[in-house]
Amino acid sequence: MSAITCSHVEKSYGATSVIRDLNLSIEEHEFVVFLGPSGCGKSTLLRMLAGLEDISGGEVSIGGKVVNDLDPGDRGIAMVFQNYALYPHMTIFDNIAFGLRRQKVAKTEIQQRVMAVSSTLGLDPYLGRKPAELSGGQQQRVAIARAMIKTPKVFLFDEPLSNLDAKLRNHMRIEIARLHQSLKTTTVYVTHDQLEAMTLADRIVLLRDGLIEQIGSPAEIYERPANVFVAGFIGTPNMNFIDVTVSHGRGGWTLTGAGADFTLDGGRFNLEGVERAVLGIRPADLKAVGDGHAGNLLQGTADLIEFHGNDALVTFGAGGKEISALVSSRACPVLRGNVRYTFDEESLHLFDAKSGKSLLRR
Ligand SMILES: Nc1ncnc2c1ncn2[C@@H]1O[C@H](COP(=O)(O)OP(=O)(O)O)[C@@H](O)[C@H]1O
Ligand SMILES: [Mg+2]
Repeated sequence: MSAITCSHVEKSYGATSVIRDLNLSIEEHEFVVFLGPSGCGKSTLLRMLAGLEDISGGEVSIGGKVVNDLDPGDRGIAMVFQNYALYPHMTIFDNIAFGLRRQKVAKTEIQQRVMAVSSTLGLDPYLGRKPAELSGGQQQRVAIARAMIKTPKVFLFDEPLSNLDAKLRNHMRIEIARLHQSLKTTTVYVTHDQLEAMTLADRIVLLRDGLIEQIGSPAEIYERPANVFVAGFIGTPNMNFIDVTVSHGRGGWTLTGAGADFTLDGGRFNLEGVERAVLGIRPADLKAVGDGHAGNLLQGTADLIEFHGNDALVTFGAGGKEISALVSSRACPVLRGNVRYTFDEESLHLFDAKSGKSLLRR
């Protein structure tokens, strides 16, 4: 049985449609991340699972039971928000114990359960303090403790790390991953940060304008993006895109664009009947070649070199098209020097120019 099912779920505010005919099954113990640009409907969808937003159409089930009309408190979920909103006048212990006290749980049991959660999250030294005496990361851990103590069937997180600085965000991301490894509680996690999504998710649900663009493991989405939007959204630095015309000759397929002809065997792609396509190549898949190399070349003058430490991002114009290549900084070209790159056909992505859909064979 799935932990959560969304069946033809819709959400609109007046005439504005925010979630459209959304279908999704989340398995027990799974860590699913809703990823997408700001405003695409991630929080709205999560809040519908939580019962904090009405569902305009369709059905949401949790643990096999339709919950459309169930109060948040009766859904077996616990939610952690970006703004952890601890009670400032209460100690950390009391903040964590708050929900249990409201449920009139016995004092000794509260004591036991707070201590268990606190030790899992490393909060023992802070139980007597007030929230203002804790760092942002520690406060967020208290918010997670407050959710954990309910022993929910499902954890819902809405951008829980967005208020933390970069270093703390990395640290807390690892803590959340470890927590899920040990508790295995079904988790739905909302973020606009693809690194968080890639590192935490069993499966990513990539949303745009209230529609699912792709569902898959991080590797599937990275290696086989379903369309141009997904390809452009996932991967840093961003994929290069080149508009090409497609023709078929004796030697195979020829793609023409960015001032060059690219010849392909084409066997991985459904190219029959396609006249115009978008060629996608990730900056890290471009390989520098010497003057002797011919065929499938992207070449130009290095306009910009960004030093990243271990590697460097080289930007150059190829036939009027700006292209980026990620190279080892040891093999970095000089600024305004000539650069020549090629790629393996295996690392190439191709999309239909009209529909934007991937031309990869299934
Ligand atoms: N209460 C509301 N009334 C009207 N529109 C809303 C309301 N809440 C959210 N929206 C709209 O719904 C869309 C999705 O919002 P949201 O789910 O918060 O996006 P995300 O979390 O992906 O950034 C946005 O266009 C937002 O303006
Ligand atoms: Mg949001």
